[in-house]
Amino acid sequence: MCGIVGFIGKKQAAPFLLEGLRRLEYRGYDSAGIATLDGGKITKVRAQGHLSFLTEKLKKNPLSGCVGIGHTRWATHGKPTEANAHPHSTDLVAVVHNGIIENYRELRALLENKGCIFTSDTDTEVIAHLISDNMRHGMTPQQATSAALKQLDGAFALGILFAGHDDLLIGARRGSPLALGHGADAMYLGSDALALAPQTNKITYLEDGDWAELYTDRIVIHDSSDVVVERKIHTSSLTNDVIGKGPYSHFMLKEIFEQPSVIKATLEPMITKDHALALPALPFNWKNVPRLTILACGTASYAGLVGKYWFEQLAQLPVEIDLASEFRYREPPMPQGGVAIIISQSGETADTLAALHYAKERGQKILSIVNVPQSSIARASDIVVPTLAGPEIGVASTKAFTAQLTVLLALALDAARTRGTQPDSRIQDILTALCDIPNKIGSVLRQENVFQELAQGFDTVSDVLYLGRGLLYPLAMEGALKLKEISYIHAEGYPAGEMKHGPIALIDEKLPVVFMAPSDVLFEKTLSNIQEVTARGGKVILLSDKKGVDAIGASVFRAVSLPSVDPIVSPLLYAVPVQLLAYHAAVVRGTNVDQPRNLAKSVTVE
Ligand code: M6R
Repeated sequence: MCGIVGFIGKKQAAPFLLEGLRRLEYRGYDSAGIATLDGGKITKVRAQGHLSFLTEKLKKNPLSGCVGIGHTRWATHGKPTEANAHPHSTDLVAVVHNGIIENYRELRALLENKGCIFTSDTDTEVIAHLISDNMRHGMTPQQATSAALKQLDGAFALGILFAGHDDLLIGARRGSPLALGHGADAMYLGSDALALAPQTNKITYLEDGDWAELYTDRIVIHDSSDVVVERKIHTSSLTNDVIGKGPYSHFMLKEIFEQPSVIKATLEPMITKDHALALPALPFNWKNVPRLTILACGTASYAGLVGKYWFEQLAQLPVEIDLASEFRYREPPMPQGGVAIIISQSGETADTLAALHYAKERGQKILSIVNVPQSSIARASDIVVPTLAGPEIGVASTKAFTAQLTVLLALALDAARTRGTQPDSRIQDILTALCDIPNKIGSVLRQENVFQELAQGFDTVSDVLYLGRGLLYPLAMEGALKLKEISYIHAEGYPAGEMKHGPIALIDEKLPVVFMAPSDVLFEKTLSNIQEVTARGGKVILLSDKKGVDAIGASVFRAVSLPSVDPIVSPLLYAVPVQLLAYHAAVVRGTNVDQPRNLAKSVTVE
């Protein structure tokens, strides 16, 4: 995780570095720091906590210099203290790092034996000492960096400054992403193109193993064998607009309310004016796919689990799904001609990217569903079917989730049509229901006050159970994840039918149990589970449609009536009430909704 930026030019570096860090804060906010070269000397300011603390410190102690690096941290090695904040430096070198150096213990022991004094608990500090040690042995900054990179195991994106070299900034990457920006009188580096968007849209993405020398007027790129190579300059379409909250008090709330328009935007390129399905040409034929594998993490994995139900039910296509962090380590065999669907909002999640490579090496065609078109996952895929959700800033994923569901359902319908597993009329009916989902979500959003009021009751609870069956089972897990990550209330999502096999022991009069139960074919079964909870004094919060609420609303603690939809599209609708409930519970408990503790938006370490 972590975000890094770098600048070399004719202007002061610090303002650019701070603006870049502000745009990268989604990658971590445990501490932040910048270093510049002032008259050839390394100067740095670092602060524990959010970027605002660094900004305040810099007001009192401004840094000057036209070359600099900056960092926003998500702590891995060492507590989130100022001493562990980047940049890490010696008298010769300053380094910012995103990633993990796996062999740092042995390198540190080696360097300490040589007399190097370490001042942090981080893995990163070994890089500064390694390069410095090489320079003390007579190497140039370029030679010293290249030699040090070859000693590192693990993942890194680096920005490096050298005392006495105001005309040089070095960037390097292996595993973690790094973008280089080309300006008129300046060159930039950043963890993503978004960090550089206000300065330039001319972006080069380093390939794995590359390192680059940045000068004010040019960039020289080397591959992992130090050979000078050309890498393409892309024109980024990212806007440099400051992304604001508008009238909303948090990005998360704004993003929840954006869902009707995001779903419409995501659907638009996939349907014709007459509401017929029109997906991009795929590099495989659904008829010949023996098995699909869906890989993702967190919320994206719950979207994938809904996708599994859709592909199996609608297209009769066998689907394996796994969490990306588990998948490759169990070394699963993959079928010839298989397809892997990789789902990720950021397109940078390290576990998901590693799972993609595992599937690719085993001959799978890679279809990715990502929200960031220039991301590492998008670039490593055979085809990208994008979610057009726009930047998602809140750490809790909301609009990206419903956009992922939108793409998955469109793909499942495409597969069903090609494989002839559903009549055309059924496919058309589902598509019509999908196109109508933005309106239905609009009605749920108009009931926001209901969830706000319900959340008042979450003020003092310590546990919540979310239950659902079939397509709503993944939504139960998503509801629980949303609640725990932003309100810090312990929550579990479970398939309702499984409750009697263990979780029922948790039920008492203090435990809120959120049931997601539209009046579909599973309703009667879920009703039995609801009765099992009420019989034991549990506080059932029922989310259903009018028919469901009419049937049993009077016998539960609270019942909320949601619009009726074709059951197949219900996951898109039921995502919204659990988002609103989690959001308002977090507000009631006074947590940092958009930047919850210990989390980061993009998880670029394994
Ligand atoms: O960027 P990705 O979709 O790959 O991220 C995956 C998870 O880290 C992410 O969904 C995480 O679980 C969210 N914070 C959930 O709200």
